[in-house]
Amino acid sequence: MPSLAVVGSQWGDEGKGKIVDYLAEEAQVVARFQGGNNAGHSVKVGEELFKLHHLPSGILRKGKLAVIGNGVVIDPGVLISEIDGLESRGVSVANLRISDRAHVIMPYHKLLDGAEERLRKGAKVGTTGRGIGPAYADKAARLGIRMMDIVDDGLLREKLGFLVPLKQRYLEMCGDATKLDGAAMLKEYSAHGTRLGPFVTDTGAIVRDALKKRKNVLFEGAQGTMLDIDHGTYPYVTSSATVAGNAASGSGVPPSAIDDVFGVVKAYTTRVGEGPFPTELLDDIGKTIADKGGEFGTTTGRSRRCGWLDLMVTKHAHALSGFTGLAMTKIDVLGGFDELKICTHYRLDGKKVAHFPADLRVLQKCEPVYKRFDGWEDLEGAALDRVLKRGFSALPENMRRYVRFVEKEMGVPVTMLGLGRRRHEILDLRKRKWKNK
Ligand code: IMP
Ligand code: MG
Repeated sequence: MPSLAVVGSQWGDEGKGKIVDYLAEEAQVVARFQGGNNAGHSVKVGEELFKLHHLPSGILRKGKLAVIGNGVVIDPGVLISEIDGLESRGVSVANLRISDRAHVIMPYHKLLDGAEERLRKGAKVGTTGRGIGPAYADKAARLGIRMMDIVDDGLLREKLGFLVPLKQRYLEMCGDATKLDGAAMLKEYSAHGTRLGPFVTDTGAIVRDALKKRKNVLFEGAQGTMLDIDHGTYPYVTSSATVAGNAASGSGVPPSAIDDVFGVVKAYTTRVGEGPFPTELLDDIGKTIADKGGEFGTTTGRSRRCGWLDLMVTKHAHALSGFTGLAMTKIDVLGGFDELKICTHYRLDGKKVAHFPADLRVLQKCEPVYKRFDGWEDLEGAALDRVLKRGFSALPENMRRYVRFVEKEMGVPVTMLGLGRRRHEILDLRKRKWKNK
Protein backbone atom coordinates (compact mmCIF):
# COMPACT_ATOMS: atom_id res chain seq x y z
CA MET A 1 0.00 0.00 0.00
CA PRO A 2 1.46 3.38 -0.95
CA SER A 3 0.06 6.53 0.67
CA LEU A 4 -3.70 6.38 0.81
CA ALA A 5 -6.42 8.82 1.87
CA VAL A 6 -9.72 7.43 3.16
CA VAL A 7 -12.62 9.87 3.03
CA GLY A 8 -16.38 9.76 3.52
CA SER A 9 -18.51 10.06 0.40
CA GLN A 10 -21.85 10.80 2.07
CA TRP A 11 -22.86 12.66 5.25
CA GLY A 12 -20.36 11.00 7.55
CA ASP A 13 -20.81 7.79 9.56
CA GLU A 14 -19.96 5.69 6.52
CA GLY A 15 -17.79 3.41 8.65
CA LYS A 16 -14.44 5.05 7.85
CA GLY A 17 -13.05 4.08 11.27
CA LYS A 18 -13.44 0.41 10.58
CA ILE A 19 -11.91 0.64 7.11
CA VAL A 20 -8.98 2.67 8.44
CA ASP A 21 -8.52 0.23 11.31
CA TYR A 22 -8.32 -2.62 8.77
CA LEU A 23 -5.94 -0.84 6.41
CA ALA A 24 -3.81 0.45 9.28
CA GLU A 25 -2.31 -3.00 9.58
CA GLU A 26 -0.33 -2.27 6.42
CA ALA A 27 0.53 1.32 7.29
CA GLN A 28 3.31 2.72 9.41
CA VAL A 29 1.63 6.09 9.93
CA VAL A 30 -2.06 6.97 10.32
CA ALA A 31 -2.84 10.69 10.21
CA ARG A 32 -6.08 12.55 10.85
CA PHE A 33 -6.28 15.82 8.94
CA GLN A 34 -9.54 17.64 9.80
CA GLY A 35 -12.53 17.75 12.13
CA GLY A 36 -12.44 17.35 15.86
CA ASN A 37 -14.38 15.47 18.49
CA ASN A 38 -17.54 15.92 16.44
CA ALA A 39 -16.31 12.71 14.79
CA GLY A 40 -17.00 9.34 16.29
CA HIS A 41 -15.54 6.08 15.20
CA SER A 42 -16.53 2.75 16.66
CA VAL A 43 -14.23 -0.17 16.06
CA LYS A 44 -14.89 -3.65 17.37
CA VAL A 45 -11.76 -5.61 18.25
CA GLY A 46 -12.71 -9.14 19.28
CA GLU A 47 -15.63 -8.56 21.62
CA GLU A 48 -14.35 -5.16 22.73
CA LEU A 49 -15.92 -2.02 21.36
CA PHE A 50 -13.74 1.09 21.13
CA LYS A 51 -15.28 4.50 20.58
CA LEU A 52 -12.85 7.14 19.40
CA HIS A 53 -13.44 10.84 18.81
CA HIS A 54 -10.07 12.50 18.65
CA LEU A 55 -7.59 9.70 18.27
CA PRO A 56 -6.91 8.29 14.80
CA SER A 57 -8.29 4.76 14.40
CA GLY A 58 -4.71 3.58 13.85
CA ILE A 59 -4.07 4.00 17.57
CA LEU A 60 -5.60 0.55 18.11
CA ARG A 61 -2.83 -1.13 16.10
CA LYS A 62 0.47 -1.67 17.84
CA GLY A 63 3.54 0.13 16.61
CA LYS A 64 1.80 2.56 14.24
CA LEU A 65 2.50 6.24 14.47
CA ALA A 66 -0.86 7.93 15.13
CA VAL A 67 -0.87 11.57 14.04
CA ILE A 68 -3.35 14.34 14.79
CA GLY A 69 -2.57 16.80 12.02
CA ASN A 70 -2.58 20.58 11.80
CA GLY A 71 -6.04 20.65 10.19
CA VAL A 72 -7.74 19.13 13.25
CA VAL A 73 -9.32 21.11 16.10
CA ILE A 74 -8.66 19.61 19.53
CA ASP A 75 -10.55 19.67 22.80
CA PRO A 76 -7.62 18.81 25.07
CA GLY A 77 -9.76 17.66 28.01
CA VAL A 78 -11.61 15.23 25.76
CA LEU A 79 -8.39 14.01 24.18
CA ILE A 80 -6.86 13.37 27.61
CA SER A 81 -9.85 11.35 28.79
CA GLU A 82 -9.72 9.34 25.58
CA ILE A 83 -6.03 8.62 26.18
CA ASP A 84 -6.75 7.65 29.81
CA GLY A 85 -9.58 5.39 28.66
CA LEU A 86 -7.37 3.53 26.21
CA GLU A 87 -4.49 3.22 28.66
CA SER A 88 -6.80 1.78 31.31
CA ARG A 89 -7.72 -0.93 28.78
CA GLY A 90 -4.09 -1.68 28.09
CA VAL A 91 -3.75 0.20 24.78
CA SER A 92 -0.54 2.23 24.63
CA VAL A 93 -0.58 5.74 23.17
CA ALA A 94 3.21 6.12 23.15
CA ASN A 95 3.07 6.51 19.36
CA LEU A 96 0.74 9.49 19.38
CA ARG A 97 1.93 12.73 17.79
CA ILE A 98 -0.09 15.96 17.91
CA SER A 99 0.52 18.90 15.60
CA ASP A 100 1.80 22.06 17.28
CA ARG A 101 -0.26 23.95 14.65
CA ALA A 102 -3.59 22.27 15.45
CA HIS A 103 -6.16 24.63 16.94
CA VAL A 104 -7.65 24.25 20.39
CA ILE A 105 -11.35 24.15 21.25
CA MET A 106 -11.85 26.49 24.22
CA PRO A 107 -14.72 26.57 26.74
CA TYR A 108 -16.19 29.66 25.06
CA HIS A 109 -16.32 27.83 21.72
CA LYS A 110 -18.64 25.25 23.22
CA LEU A 111 -20.84 27.94 24.80
CA LEU A 112 -20.99 29.83 21.51
CA ASP A 113 -21.85 26.71 19.54
CA GLY A 114 -24.97 26.39 21.72
CA ALA A 115 -25.79 30.11 21.78
CA GLU A 116 -25.49 30.55 18.00
CA GLU A 117 -27.62 27.49 17.34
CA ARG A 118 -30.33 28.90 19.64
CA LEU A 119 -30.22 32.23 17.82
CA ARG A 120 -30.64 30.56 14.44
CA LYS A 121 -34.16 29.66 15.50
CA GLY A 122 -35.75 27.69 12.66
CA ALA A 123 -32.46 27.45 10.75
CA LYS A 124 -30.49 25.33 13.22
CA VAL A 125 -27.60 23.33 11.78
CA GLY A 126 -28.02 20.58 14.36
CA THR A 127 -24.34 20.65 15.31
CA THR A 128 -22.77 18.17 17.70
CA GLY A 129 -22.39 21.04 20.19
CA ARG A 130 -18.68 20.43 20.60
CA GLY A 131 -17.55 23.95 19.66
CA ILE A 132 -16.23 22.87 16.27
CA GLY A 133 -17.67 25.74 14.20
CA PRO A 134 -16.61 28.54 16.58
CA ALA A 135 -13.09 27.03 16.88
CA TYR A 136 -12.60 26.93 13.10
CA ALA A 137 -14.15 30.41 12.83
CA ASP A 138 -11.53 31.72 15.26
CA LYS A 139 -8.78 30.00 13.31
CA ALA A 140 -9.89 31.83 10.17
CA ALA A 141 -10.36 35.09 12.08
CA ARG A 142 -6.82 34.73 13.46
CA LEU A 143 -8.17 34.57 16.99
CA GLY A 144 -7.30 30.94 17.53
CA ILE A 145 -5.23 29.25 20.19
CA ARG A 146 -2.92 26.56 18.88
CA MET A 147 -1.57 23.48 20.62
CA MET A 148 1.85 25.14 20.83
CA ASP A 149 0.24 27.97 22.82
CA ILE A 150 -1.09 25.72 25.57
CA VAL A 151 2.23 23.94 25.87
CA ASP A 152 3.89 27.33 26.48
CA ASP A 153 1.78 28.97 29.19
CA GLY A 154 3.37 32.36 28.55
CA LEU A 155 1.82 32.36 25.09
CA LEU A 156 -1.49 31.14 26.47
CA ARG A 157 -1.55 33.88 29.12
CA GLU A 158 -0.88 36.54 26.49
CA LYS A 159 -3.64 35.32 24.19
CA LEU A 160 -6.23 34.79 26.89
CA GLY A 161 -5.49 38.33 28.06
CA PHE A 162 -7.36 39.76 25.08
CA LEU A 163 -9.47 36.79 24.03
CA VAL A 164 -11.39 36.31 27.29
CA PRO A 165 -12.79 39.88 27.41
CA LEU A 166 -13.53 39.75 23.69
CA LYS A 167 -15.35 36.42 23.91
CA GLN A 168 -17.18 37.62 27.02
CA ARG A 169 -18.66 40.49 25.05
CA TYR A 170 -19.61 38.23 22.19
CA LEU A 171 -21.24 35.70 24.54
CA GLU A 172 -23.30 38.47 26.14
CA MET A 173 -24.38 39.67 22.70
CA CYS A 174 -25.49 36.13 21.97
CA GLY A 175 -27.61 36.06 25.10
CA ASP A 176 -25.41 33.75 27.17
CA ALA A 177 -24.83 35.13 30.66
CA THR A 178 -21.99 32.75 31.59
CA LYS A 179 -19.08 34.61 33.21
CA LEU A 180 -15.78 33.48 31.73
CA ASP A 181 -13.01 32.94 34.27
CA GLY A 182 -9.73 33.72 32.52
CA ALA A 183 -7.54 32.63 35.47
CA ALA A 184 -9.28 29.26 35.76
CA MET A 185 -9.06 28.78 32.00
CA LEU A 186 -5.34 29.52 32.05
CA LYS A 187 -4.80 27.04 34.86
CA GLU A 188 -6.89 24.30 33.26
CA TYR A 189 -5.44 24.65 29.76
CA SER A 190 -1.82 24.96 30.91
CA ALA A 191 -2.34 21.72 32.85
CA HIS A 192 -3.66 20.16 29.63
CA GLY A 193 -0.60 21.54 27.84
CA THR A 194 1.71 19.98 30.42
CA ARG A 195 -0.01 16.62 30.04
CA LEU A 196 -0.12 16.66 26.22
CA GLY A 197 3.19 18.48 25.74
CA PRO A 198 5.27 15.33 25.20
CA PHE A 199 3.11 14.45 22.19
CA VAL A 200 3.07 17.93 20.60
CA THR A 201 5.47 18.39 17.71
CA ASP A 202 5.80 19.38 14.04
CA THR A 203 3.75 16.47 12.68
CA GLY A 204 3.98 17.73 9.07
CA ALA A 205 7.74 17.18 9.17
CA ILE A 206 7.22 13.69 10.59
CA VAL A 207 4.72 12.66 7.91
CA ARG A 208 6.84 14.13 5.09
CA ASP A 209 9.85 12.26 6.41
CA ALA A 210 7.86 9.01 6.53
CA LEU A 211 6.77 9.54 2.92
CA LYS A 212 10.34 10.20 1.88
CA LYS A 213 11.36 6.92 3.46
CA ARG A 214 8.60 5.24 1.43
CA LYS A 215 6.65 4.25 4.49
CA ASN A 216 2.95 3.63 4.08
CA VAL A 217 0.91 6.58 5.25
CA LEU A 218 -2.84 6.41 5.74
CA PHE A 219 -4.73 9.73 5.83
CA GLU A 220 -7.91 9.32 7.83
CA GLY A 221 -10.81 11.61 6.97
CA ALA A 222 -13.67 12.51 9.30
CA GLN A 223 -17.27 13.37 8.42
CA GLY A 224 -18.16 13.14 4.72
CA THR A 225 -18.23 15.04 1.43
CA MET A 226 -21.75 16.37 1.89
CA LEU A 227 -20.63 17.97 5.18
CA ASP A 228 -17.67 19.70 3.48
CA ILE A 229 -17.56 23.43 4.21
CA ASP A 230 -17.26 24.29 0.48
CA HIS A 231 -18.89 21.41 -1.35
CA GLY A 232 -21.52 20.10 1.04
CA THR A 233 -25.12 21.14 1.63
CA TYR A 234 -24.12 24.52 3.06
CA PRO A 235 -24.96 25.78 5.68
CA TYR A 236 -25.88 22.29 6.92
CA VAL A 237 -22.24 21.25 6.96
CA THR A 238 -19.34 21.02 9.35
CA SER A 239 -16.62 23.68 9.42
CA SER A 240 -13.73 21.91 7.72
CA ALA A 241 -12.87 20.57 4.27
CA THR A 242 -13.67 16.86 4.24
CA VAL A 243 -12.58 16.14 0.65
CA ALA A 244 -9.35 14.32 -0.20
CA GLY A 245 -7.54 17.54 -1.16
CA ASN A 246 -7.45 18.51 2.48
CA ALA A 247 -5.60 15.33 3.41
CA ALA A 248 -2.55 17.15 2.05
CA SER A 249 -3.09 20.59 3.52
CA GLY A 250 -4.50 19.29 6.81
CA SER A 251 -1.49 17.13 7.47
CA GLY A 252 1.23 19.26 5.91
CA VAL A 253 2.20 17.24 2.83
CA PRO A 254 2.04 18.09 -0.90
CA PRO A 255 -0.99 16.76 -2.87
CA SER A 256 1.37 14.82 -5.12
CA ALA A 257 2.33 12.70 -2.11
CA ILE A 258 -1.08 11.01 -2.04
CA ASP A 259 -1.20 8.01 -4.36
CA ASP A 260 -4.65 6.57 -3.72
CA VAL A 261 -8.00 7.75 -2.46
CA PHE A 262 -10.63 5.38 -1.13
CA GLY A 263 -14.15 6.75 -0.87
CA VAL A 264 -16.14 5.09 1.87
CA VAL A 265 -19.69 4.47 0.68
CA LYS A 266 -22.25 3.06 3.06
CA ALA A 267 -24.57 0.71 1.12
CA TYR A 268 -27.44 3.05 2.02
CA THR A 269 -27.43 6.69 3.15
CA THR A 270 -27.67 8.30 6.59
CA ARG A 271 -27.50 11.83 7.91
CA VAL A 272 -27.49 13.27 11.46
CA GLY A 273 -28.66 16.77 12.20
CA GLU A 274 -30.65 19.09 9.99
CA GLY A 275 -30.51 19.69 6.25
CA PRO A 276 -31.78 18.25 2.98
CA PHE A 277 -31.65 14.52 2.32
CA PRO A 278 -33.33 13.63 -0.99
CA THR A 279 -33.47 9.82 -0.59
CA GLU A 280 -34.57 9.88 3.06
CA LEU A 281 -37.01 7.11 4.02
CA LEU A 282 -39.58 8.34 6.51
CA ASP A 283 -41.41 5.02 6.53
CA ASP A 284 -40.91 1.62 8.18
CA ILE A 285 -38.09 0.71 5.79
CA GLY A 286 -36.08 3.66 7.12
CA LYS A 287 -36.79 2.55 10.68
CA THR A 288 -35.79 -1.04 9.96
CA ILE A 289 -32.51 0.09 8.40
CA ALA A 290 -31.81 2.35 11.41
CA ASP A 291 -32.46 -0.49 13.89
CA LYS A 292 -30.60 -3.13 11.95
CA GLY A 293 -27.67 -0.84 11.21
CA GLY A 294 -27.47 0.53 14.76
CA GLU A 295 -27.75 4.01 13.29
CA PHE A 296 -27.28 6.06 16.43
CA GLY A 297 -24.52 8.64 16.66
CA THR A 298 -21.27 7.59 18.35
CA THR A 299 -20.78 11.17 19.50
CA THR A 300 -24.21 12.50 20.44
CA GLY A 301 -26.34 9.35 20.55
CA ARG A 302 -28.84 11.03 18.19
CA SER A 303 -30.64 8.69 15.84
CA ARG A 304 -29.52 8.98 12.25
CA ARG A 305 -31.96 9.62 9.41
CA CYS A 306 -31.80 6.74 6.91
CA GLY A 307 -32.49 6.46 3.19
CA TRP A 308 -31.58 4.65 -0.03
CA LEU A 309 -28.13 4.87 -1.55
CA ASP A 310 -27.86 8.10 -3.55
CA LEU A 311 -25.43 8.02 -6.47
CA MET A 312 -25.88 11.77 -7.08
CA VAL A 313 -24.18 12.20 -3.71
CA THR A 314 -21.43 9.63 -4.20
CA LYS A 315 -20.70 10.86 -7.74
CA HIS A 316 -20.36 14.40 -6.40
CA ALA A 317 -17.89 13.00 -3.85
CA HIS A 318 -15.93 11.15 -6.54
CA ALA A 319 -15.82 14.26 -8.73
CA LEU A 320 -14.21 16.16 -5.86
CA SER A 321 -11.92 13.54 -4.35
CA GLY A 322 -11.04 11.36 -7.35
CA PHE A 323 -11.58 7.92 -5.84
CA THR A 324 -9.31 5.12 -6.95
CA GLY A 325 -11.33 2.62 -4.91
CA LEU A 326 -14.62 2.37 -3.05
CA ALA A 327 -14.97 0.86 0.39
CA MET A 328 -18.60 -0.18 0.58
CA THR A 329 -19.70 -0.67 4.16
CA LYS A 330 -22.64 -2.21 6.00
CA ILE A 331 -24.10 -4.02 3.01
CA ASP A 332 -25.11 -6.75 5.50
CA VAL A 333 -27.68 -4.31 6.91
CA LEU A 334 -29.60 -4.50 3.61
CA GLY A 335 -30.12 -8.27 3.93
CA GLY A 336 -33.66 -9.57 4.34
CA PHE A 337 -35.49 -6.94 2.28
CA ASP A 338 -37.67 -8.02 -0.68
CA GLU A 339 -36.52 -5.11 -2.75
CA LEU A 340 -33.95 -2.35 -2.57
CA LYS A 341 -33.53 0.91 -4.41
CA ILE A 342 -30.63 3.02 -5.59
CA CYS A 343 -31.08 6.62 -6.67
CA THR A 344 -29.31 6.95 -10.01
CA HIS A 345 -29.96 10.67 -10.60
CA TYR A 346 -32.28 13.58 -9.81
CA ARG A 347 -34.94 15.01 -12.08
CA LEU A 348 -36.03 18.63 -12.04
CA ASP A 349 -38.77 20.02 -14.28
CA GLY A 350 -38.65 16.81 -16.31
CA LYS A 351 -34.90 17.10 -16.94
CA LYS A 352 -31.96 15.12 -15.60
CA VAL A 353 -29.91 17.21 -13.15
CA ALA A 354 -26.26 17.26 -14.29
CA HIS A 355 -24.47 18.39 -11.13
CA PHE A 356 -25.23 18.46 -7.44
CA PRO A 357 -26.98 21.82 -6.92
CA ALA A 358 -25.50 24.48 -4.62
CA ASP A 359 -28.92 26.01 -4.00
CA LEU A 360 -30.82 24.06 -1.36
CA ARG A 361 -34.12 25.41 -2.68
CA VAL A 362 -33.31 23.74 -5.99
CA LEU A 363 -32.22 20.56 -4.22
CA GLN A 364 -35.53 20.46 -2.35
CA LYS A 365 -37.35 20.40 -5.69
CA CYS A 366 -35.20 17.64 -7.17
CA GLU A 367 -36.93 14.32 -7.49
CA PRO A 368 -34.75 11.25 -6.96
CA VAL A 369 -35.05 8.64 -9.72
CA TYR A 370 -34.60 5.08 -8.52
CA LYS A 371 -33.55 1.76 -9.95
CA ARG A 372 -34.99 -1.20 -8.10
CA PHE A 373 -33.10 -4.33 -7.09
CA ASP A 374 -34.19 -7.72 -5.78
CA GLY A 375 -33.07 -8.29 -2.20
CA TRP A 376 -31.08 -11.13 -0.67
CA GLU A 377 -31.23 -13.20 2.49
CA ASP A 378 -29.26 -12.18 5.56
CA LEU A 379 -25.70 -13.40 5.41
CA GLU A 380 -24.78 -14.89 8.77
CA GLY A 381 -22.98 -17.72 10.53
CA ALA A 382 -21.57 -20.43 8.28
CA ALA A 383 -22.69 -18.65 5.10
CA LEU A 384 -20.79 -15.51 6.11
CA ASP A 385 -17.71 -17.53 7.03
CA ARG A 386 -17.80 -19.19 3.62
CA VAL A 387 -17.95 -15.82 1.89
CA LEU A 388 -15.09 -14.45 3.98
CA LYS A 389 -13.02 -17.47 2.95
CA ARG A 390 -14.02 -17.71 -0.72
CA GLY A 391 -14.46 -14.09 -1.65
CA PHE A 392 -16.68 -12.09 -3.96
CA SER A 393 -17.95 -14.97 -6.09
CA ALA A 394 -19.47 -16.61 -2.99
CA LEU A 395 -21.71 -13.61 -2.23
CA PRO A 396 -25.45 -13.87 -2.89
CA GLU A 397 -26.03 -13.11 -6.55
CA ASN A 398 -28.37 -10.20 -5.88
CA MET A 399 -25.81 -8.61 -3.59
CA ARG A 400 -23.17 -8.93 -6.32
CA ARG A 401 -25.57 -7.26 -8.74
CA TYR A 402 -26.05 -4.37 -6.35
CA VAL A 403 -22.30 -3.93 -5.87
CA ARG A 404 -21.51 -4.22 -9.58
CA PHE A 405 -24.14 -1.65 -10.44
CA VAL A 406 -22.53 0.88 -8.10
CA GLU A 407 -19.08 0.16 -9.53
CA LYS A 408 -20.28 0.58 -13.07
CA GLU A 409 -22.17 3.80 -12.37
CA MET A 410 -19.27 5.29 -10.41
CA GLY A 411 -16.57 3.99 -12.73
CA VAL A 412 -14.58 2.95 -9.65
CA PRO A 413 -13.98 -0.58 -8.33
CA VAL A 414 -15.24 -1.68 -4.94
CA THR A 415 -11.98 -2.53 -3.18
CA MET A 416 -13.37 -3.35 0.25
CA LEU A 417 -16.78 -4.68 1.26
CA GLY A 418 -18.00 -4.46 4.85
CA LEU A 419 -20.12 -7.47 5.82
CA GLY A 420 -20.37 -7.10 9.59
CA ARG A 421 -19.32 -5.20 12.66
CA ARG A 422 -16.26 -7.20 13.62
CA ARG A 423 -12.73 -6.46 12.49
CA HIS A 424 -12.39 -9.50 10.21
CA GLU A 425 -15.82 -9.16 8.60
CA ILE A 426 -14.44 -7.22 5.67
CA LEU A 427 -13.90 -8.62 2.19
CA ASP A 428 -10.66 -7.27 0.81
CA LEU A 429 -11.21 -7.01 -2.94
CA ARG A 430 -8.13 -5.03 -3.86
CA LYS A 431 -6.74 -7.89 -5.91
CA ARG A 432 -10.00 -8.72 -7.64
CA LYS A 433 -10.05 -8.24 -11.41
CA TRP A 434 -12.46 -5.48 -12.28
CA LYS A 435 -13.84 -4.57 -15.65
CA ASN A 436 -15.20 -1.12 -16.16
CA LYS A 437 -18.20 -2.00 -18.28
P1 IMP B 1 -20.52 20.28 13.80
O1 IMP B 1 -19.45 19.60 13.06
O2 IMP B 1 -20.64 19.83 15.24
O3 IMP B 1 -20.44 21.78 13.70
O4 IMP B 1 -21.93 19.87 13.16
C1 IMP B 1 -22.30 20.29 11.86
C2 IMP B 1 -23.07 19.21 11.12
O5 IMP B 1 -22.21 18.13 10.83
C3 IMP B 1 -24.23 18.61 11.91
O6 IMP B 1 -25.26 18.26 11.00
C4 IMP B 1 -23.63 17.35 12.50
O7 IMP B 1 -24.63 16.39 12.78
C5 IMP B 1 -22.73 16.92 11.37
N1 IMP B 1 -21.59 16.12 11.81
C6 IMP B 1 -20.46 16.55 12.39
N2 IMP B 1 -19.61 15.54 12.63
C7 IMP B 1 -20.23 14.43 12.18
C8 IMP B 1 -19.83 13.06 12.12
O8 IMP B 1 -18.74 12.64 12.52
N3 IMP B 1 -20.74 12.21 11.56
C9 IMP B 1 -21.92 12.64 11.07
N4 IMP B 1 -22.33 13.90 11.10
C10 IMP B 1 -21.48 14.80 11.66
MG1 MG C 1 -19.23 8.86 13.05
